[in-house]
Amino acid sequence: MSFWQDLKKPIIGLAPMDGITNVAFRHVQAKIAKPDIIFTEFVHTDGLFFNPARVLRPFVYTPIERPIIAQLYGKNPDHFYIGAHLVSFLGFSGLDLNLGCPAKTVIRSGGGAALIENPSLVAKIIKATQAGLSDFAKNPKIDHLGLKAKNLDAVYDFQKKYRLKPSSQALPLSIKTRIGTDKVVTKEWIPFLLSHDPSTITIHGRLLKDGHSGPVAWDEIKLAAELRDRGSHQTLILGNGGVKNRSEGEKMSKKHRIDGVLIGQAALGNPWVFSDHSPTRGDKLETMRLHAKVFEKHMPESNFESLRKHFIWYTKGLKDARALRQKIITFTSSGDLDYRLS
Ligand SMILES: Cc1cc2nc3c(=O)[nH]c(=O)nc-3n(C[C@H](O)[C@H](O)[C@H](O)COP(=O)(O)O)c2cc1C
Repeated sequence: MSFWQDLKKPIIGLAPMDGITNVAFRHVQAKIAKPDIIFTEFVHTDGLFFNPARVLRPFVYTPIERPIIAQLYGKNPDHFYIGAHLVSFLGFSGLDLNLGCPAKTVIRSGGGAALIENPSLVAKIIKATQAGLSDFAKNPKIDHLGLKAKNLDAVYDFQKKYRLKPSSQALPLSIKTRIGTDKVVTKEWIPFLLSHDPSTITIHGRLLKDGHSGPVAWDEIKLAAELRDRGSHQTLILGNGGVKNRSEGEKMSKKHRIDGVLIGQAALGNPWVFSDHSPTRGDKLETMRLHAKVFEKHMPESNFESLRKHFIWYTKGLKDARALRQKIITFTSSGDLDYRLS
């Protein structure tokens, strides 16, 4: 039994988004309207092995984000075995395997959604990850994994700096994937994944070639749940793609008989999608100020300018959005929002 089974259904969670769902975004989201589950941005397993100091930043998290799931991508099973240990060592609630990313660099390297066409490698990756999670539970250490001393130190330093406690039990494995690369393969792909008994499979109802927009094949997501039922698997099935808010997610879950949904792009500048509250102009400005402060506190080494896109998303739908945007592009600290945003 894992935390997944204890969650109230339907589960309405925040989808992972690289370059967006960092600790500041997730912390604000959890404060304003808490999703039932939250995912980190993805981290490359090769990076965890060769240079954790450089790639660990997306794994900074705060307690209010729990349950928080670390997402990994890559294609080397040995590095997934190590990644599973590190994710457990950093105390996450679960580990998610990315089998759906369409980014060109990821696809070219044979990871993300490209793996949909390589089931024999996926089987090795899943087995290595599951072994890493259960081996860590039996022997909660990371000093026997072959990491260079400086890389091991980087992981210890990270754990200490953010006061993270190792997990005391084997973390559940979830998988996020698509319905195919250039043609729909749900009927073969989902039973294959189910045969490895992951706790949860999230299905983004688009093909790799569709990227992150366009129609979503909810009938394929529904089929995945039917395949799960036919095979009597315990795996939860979540749908994903184009869901606008919590109440729509609840409706889609009921209609397609799935266990929940993940919401991605609808949450940009709009954390209220998880509460169905209609934000006022005042709510939006106040939340922008909060976002700026949380960013400075938890991501002090990051460039403040990277926040501007978030502020611009918050202004969407406001009558004076244009005027606000002109100010936003000059902001360089939370003080600017305190004194110049009204
Ligand atoms: C900018 C961006 C970055 C993304 N990064 C990831 C990622 O790191 N891992 C992942 O599994 N999916 C990633 N996705 C896909 C989303 O999790 C989600 O599947 C997709 O946006 C569809 O959901 P939506 O229509 O609700 O946005 C990303 C999507 C976007 C737009």
